[in-house]
Amino acid sequence: MDTMDKFYHIVTYGCQMNVHESEKIAGILSGLGYIACDKMEQADVVVFNTCCIRENAENHAYGNIGMLKKLKAAKRDMIIAVGGCLTQQINKADSLHEKFPYVDIIFGTHNLNKLKEYIIEKRGRKKPIIEIEQCDGSVFEGDVPLRTSYPNAWVNITYGCNNFCTYCIVPYVRGRERSRKSENILAEVGKLVAEGYKEITLLGQNVNSYGNGGADIPFYELLERVANIDGNFRVRFMTSHPKDFSEELAKVIGRNKKICNCLHLPVQSGSDSILSAMNRRYTARDYLNKVEILRKHVPDCAITTDIIVGFPGETEEDFKATLELVNKVDFASAFTFVYSKREGTKAALMPNQIPEDVSKRRIMELVDLVNEHTRSHSARFVGQTVEVLCEGYDDKRSLYLGRSEHGRMVYFDSIDDKKGQFVNVKINEANGISLIGEITEE
Ligand code: 5AD
Ligand code: SF4
Repeated sequence: MDTMDKFYHIVTYGCQMNVHESEKIAGILSGLGYIACDKMEQADVVVFNTCCIRENAENHAYGNIGMLKKLKAAKRDMIIAVGGCLTQQINKADSLHEKFPYVDIIFGTHNLNKLKEYIIEKRGRKKPIIEIEQCDGSVFEGDVPLRTSYPNAWVNITYGCNNFCTYCIVPYVRGRERSRKSENILAEVGKLVAEGYKEITLLGQNVNSYGNGGADIPFYELLERVANIDGNFRVRFMTSHPKDFSEELAKVIGRNKKICNCLHLPVQSGSDSILSAMNRRYTARDYLNKVEILRKHVPDCAITTDIIVGFPGETEEDFKATLELVNKVDFASAFTFVYSKREGTKAALMPNQIPEDVSKRRIMELVDLVNEHTRSHSARFVGQTVEVLCEGYDDKRSLYLGRSEHGRMVYFDSIDDKKGQFVNVKINEANGISLIGEITEE
């Protein structure tokens, strides 16, 4: 190792969108000559890519940034930068600076592309750089991400959100919805496929409303054009808002082999009055109708969802309606959350905030039910042969691992390295959300 080498370390909080944003940050840092390292102690630049969607993600970041105080005192040249949507909340950058005066750079989601300048500038001065910009409606196209997830690659298609679900901070911190031009998206996917990436996931807060803010074609058409690119690869996309999910999209999924037969369709609640208070703009019946349409065109579609319990005013009856909906849809898996009050959102001002003990009991009951469905979905694969895209080797289990089309993690043994290859695996055992099997020639 060259002792002159300089290292970076990125800590990411939140969703896949943030993971991909961290790849863009990594691209900027490697462009400046820094090399990735696993340990914060070794790093010359540490970047926290934060998330504020729920309070626990926010607190997690505070805890980690706080822990760096000692290290920074011992290693004065180290640059600490904090970015991501946390910094974008009203007055948050200033309060972050007050709380953690040793942080060198505080930047927002709309000026990520300036991080390079900030780091160069910071090397030559003592004073911290605090710069948060508001969304100007543009889409920055100059990112060269340093991808860390081969054979999978993420591609942004939209940024921001216009939906203003009453519990959600995203529209405030990520700005209004902007769509990338389809030609830029198709060119990026084409390049990734040519480079050997085998799974492309199109990303947006609400991919179904692709087209807002300047795009030329609707989402279902974009998706089909992506699937028509030559090459052996899979396509996934997230997230879909049920109100915008259309039959055309279901048909496109059904008729294109490359598009995985799975859909993440966050329902949030099964109660109409809660859905209305959340400003979701659909009823439980509307949601079930969409599921029916989807299953008509994609019979084996694995549907996954997000559910929140403890939204202000949620009665026992409302909660029961959510459990009922979970049973009706039979989700392949679900992310479950306790409602987290976010300052600045409409729901934060609503009366009847639910006591913690009630929310805790509800989430436990919900998780038990969701797990039952997850296990039964997994069990259905036993005896079947599924196509798996191998993502790597799991040292703990001493097995290769990858995902099936339906999004299930599959473990299997192999003599040679299968990373980046599609393999057929006969499933022998189901274990909660994951499956275990053996390679077959089928
Ligand atoms: N509290 C709890 N969960 C939330 N989500 C978004 N905002 C909140 C909040 N304030 C969940 C939603 C969304 C997912 C990404 O995060 O279920 O679909
Ligand atoms: Fe938040 Fe609703 Fe937008 Fe999703 S659709 S990011 S939950 S406001």
